[in-house]
Amino acid sequence: MSDNRPIGVFDSGMGGLTVLKAMRAALPEEDLVYLGDTARLPYGTKSADTVRAYALQAVQLLMQHDVKMVVIACNTASSVALGPLAEALKPLPVIGVVEPGAEAGCAATQNGHIAVIATESTVRGGAYERAINAQAKDVTVTQLACPLFVALAEEGWTDGEVTEAAIERYLLPLFPEGGEVPDTLVLGCTHFPVLAGAISKVLGDKVTLVDSAETTARAVAAKLDENGLAHAPQKKSAVRFMATDSPDRFARVGSVFFGEEIEPGDVELVDLKPAAAAQS
Ligand code: DGL
Repeated sequence: MSDNRPIGVFDSGMGGLTVLKAMRAALPEEDLVYLGDTARLPYGTKSADTVRAYALQAVQLLMQHDVKMVVIACNTASSVALGPLAEALKPLPVIGVVEPGAEAGCAATQNGHIAVIATESTVRGGAYERAINAQAKDVTVTQLACPLFVALAEEGWTDGEVTEAAIERYLLPLFPEGGEVPDTLVLGCTHFPVLAGAISKVLGDKVTLVDSAETTARAVAAKLDENGLAHAPQKKSAVRFMATDSPDRFARVGSVFFGEEIEPGDVELVDLKPAAAAQS
């Protein structure tokens, strides 16, 4: 059994391209449609109600592309909107990135103490703590919002003095000398994997960094198998990019996250119409 419709992937901006990259590597047969809501980024500083309304509009646009599955490649949207989106799109499978990120953290920790860095909204909602403790109830979870990291990643400042200073300021207090410190750091925001090199440089090799990209790609593969939804073998799969603002900027900054050159001409500018539920 096969299903040749594309998979829809959504993020508030370009960070979700780190998940798209892992999906491309793990699922080379699949056609992918990616939507970045760049006009309304960041989601991470907004209220849960606003993020839910935006996310609903975004997935409704993906549905117009006849997608067979939706991946919420945004931690903020996954943490506050996964349940309502899954309900609204039933029976279409919807996968978020928080559970796969939690799974990666639980697999990596040796001492049972995980730190999670994310946006303010993800931290406030506590979804990572719940997801980690659902998988391993005795694990201690320390959460920290690092909103400036989103701006650094967007600016392409993935290393250098300013980036390292910001990392030191946010993260060193989580790892005091001689204290009971986490041995694993979950990058609970899709923007953060591009800062992984600089974070490792500051924290050293005693802390294992994990993100949700690869575990999400595995969760997608499992769901495709489970539901008989995998694409039939094909020579070259397609990726379609859409953004709600500035295709030029999406292509330039997105190339850093995607790890491949994206041409501005390959990015379609789209408008998200308010969903009925968001208007009421
Ligand atoms: N994509 C968001 C996330 O993974 C980060 C950017 C934002 O705040 O919108 O949480």
